[in-house]
Amino acid sequence: MTATASTMSHVYPIGSRVNERGRLEIGGCDTVELVREFGSPAYVVAEDDLRARARSFMEAVSARHADFDVLFASKAFPCTAVYRLLAEEGLSCDVASGGELFLALRGGFDPARIYFHGNAKSEVELRDARAAGIGHIVIDSLHELDVLERIAASDGGRRQEVLIRITPGVAGDTHHAISTGQTDSKFGFSPEDARSAIERLAAAPHLDLVGLHFHIGSQLLELEPFRAAVRSIASLGDFPVYNVGGGLGVAYTSSVRPPSVADYVDAIVSTVHSELGAEKRLLLEPGRALVANSVVTLYTVQTVKRNVSTWVAVDGGMSDNLRPMLYGSKYEAVVADRPRAETNARCHVAGKHCESGDVIVRDVWLADPEPGDVIAIPATGAYGYSMANNYNGVPRPPVIFCREGDARVVVRREGYEDLAARDAG
Ligand code: LLP
Repeated sequence: MTATASTMSHVYPIGSRVNERGRLEIGGCDTVELVREFGSPAYVVAEDDLRARARSFMEAVSARHADFDVLFASKAFPCTAVYRLLAEEGLSCDVASGGELFLALRGGFDPARIYFHGNAKSEVELRDARAAGIGHIVIDSLHELDVLERIAASDGGRRQEVLIRITPGVAGDTHHAISTGQTDSKFGFSPEDARSAIERLAAAPHLDLVGLHFHIGSQLLELEPFRAAVRSIASLGDFPVYNVGGGLGVAYTSSVRPPSVADYVDAIVSTVHSELGAEKRLLLEPGRALVANSVVTLYTVQTVKRNVSTWVAVDGGMSDNLRPMLYGSKYEAVVADRPRAETNARCHVAGKHCESGDVIVRDVWLADPEPGDVIAIPATGAYGYSMANNYNGVPRPPVIFCREGDARVVVRREGYEDLAARDAG
């Protein structure tokens, strides 16, 4: 056990450290104490880290481009406290459903600064978005264009600013399930179809086409695909607004060094300037890169089974983090009680769910884990909470904001009653 504090790798929230008791500390809070107080599993958010990431995006763009907005792609972490914090930091917001729109409004976003995406928006969702005074709708199909024109003509006639989503035919190197820019995608218009959508919008009495949007995929660790996508939409005409989506990858393990936010923004802005012009309104839409590394999930070890491998089974799993099971995503883990102790056991950290695929981290070296120890898994802020579920009747974890040693619950833990709360008969 170390007597002096030391910092953690870049996978953890800024300011994370091993404290004087030799335990992992996040946002100034001792993680073992957090589990004593709030139970486990728990999503622990380092509030200052989240604010710092939001500011790094705002500052990186404002240093390079005058007319811009950074949109929080809220599917990454759609919880009211996160919406509120990012609204406070001056971001705009992207929603992909009526539910996310509801949450974004509740979290304090100005409807004029909300952008509505989705490849299968319902008429009700579109009407609700209009009624809320939403700023922009990102049209994804010719059918949606017609429906929206009809709604806008009938619900008072306020003109609606829209963008159209282009599938630029550019695929980055990522898991196929989260690659979206390739030709033959369920999202957006091919460049050819975009031309007819642009023509139809020019004649649509209630819709104003202000610009183009693309999102080529997620967890991209190379910058060239972003540049290629900007080049590829340049031939579609000249528009005042360009939304280049999200997609910047993050470090889930310490060997991964993603491009910095500054380098990512540099690549985008320089290509936008050379291909589209420096006067455009530029929108960025990060999700993962804003929230992933601000969060650590804490679990308690329930059993340790030593057969061919050492299986460390914890009290959560695929109900709070589906990413390893859906995308084969790799995470790292430490025993939060002693992150600096000798890591003498090669383990699989398994969940509590009734299937063999429920393994959160494979082949991780841990410090002699025992039942009762706290396991911390970093970089769980993106798409963990949002894809959480109740498989095996496991209640979903709370979200706890930590800052300068103070912890507050911003989403309570589900209880068993919640599991039956929608029963109607
Ligand atoms: N904009 C649009 C239109 C999107 O569809 C997405 C993500 C983003 C922005 C934000 O992308 P990001 O910066 O987070 O890469 N569940 C998957 C990720 C699905 C992403 C879907 N769209 C995962 O856990 O990896």
